[in-house]
Amino acid sequence: MTRTLIAGNWKMNGLKSSLGEIRDAAAGVGQGKAGVEALLCVPATLLTLAAEAAHGSALRVGGETCHAAESGAHTGDVSAEMLADAGATHVIVGHSERRTDHAESNETAALRAGMTPIICIGESLDQRKAGETLEFVASQIAGSIPDGAAAEQIVIAYEPIWAIGTGEVATPDQIDEVHTAIRTRLAERFGADAADLIPLLYGGSMKPGNAAEILAVKDVNGGLIGGASLKAADFLAIYGQAK
Ligand code: PGA
Repeated sequence: MTRTLIAGNWKMNGLKSSLGEIRDAAAGVGQGKAGVEALLCVPATLLTLAAEAAHGSALRVGGETCHAAESGAHTGDVSAEMLADAGATHVIVGHSERRTDHAESNETAALRAGMTPIICIGESLDQRKAGETLEFVASQIAGSIPDGAAAEQIVIAYEPIWAIGTGEVATPDQIDEVHTAIRTRLAERFGADAADLIPLLYGGSMKPGNAAEILAVKDVNGGLIGGASLKAADFLAIYGQAK
């Protein structure tokens, strides 16, 4: 059965004074519920403290990016090993903001460190208008999943760039079309049974008020939530709607 994952992405937000939100989220998640995982991806500066704050609950913490190398002369970067050492179980890779700002696309480091990469894909508004969405997303899948990756190791997040942080949400029909196409591509690569194990998250202006409708779309197995994950109450309201 496909796991459901409700994952927050704090982006470049959060100071030590924000740890109360992690504690509240951990208290709300408690020992969790069957088949649904809860995760908050936070800035590297907060990871150790966030992992401590979530300790004893089913809430997991993750990183937002990592370098492909284990260590070395890469000033300012963090490796998957470092994130894992700080308590991360997952790491977001290839987020559109990272692709734009840092030409990122590589997720192999996370696999090597035994972490689950959340591989982000999604089209721009121009690509959607040009009718290139499915082709582009398929090319991103082909380019972002490393050779040798096992289906049970990865998570994919479909995040239409035009829906990120804009308040504009893809319609259930749009999400359905792309998620179905992603599952088909994954089935070609891994076989149908293994492809069904890969959680497909939707991301882009997801919030408590639209989560139920999005999570009900076939082949949506959770969400990657930016703005609405910063407050524990909103994050928990979304988690509460996940089955
Ligand atoms: P948003 O961000 O929920 O604020 O739109 C989602 C994301 O970028 O992961």
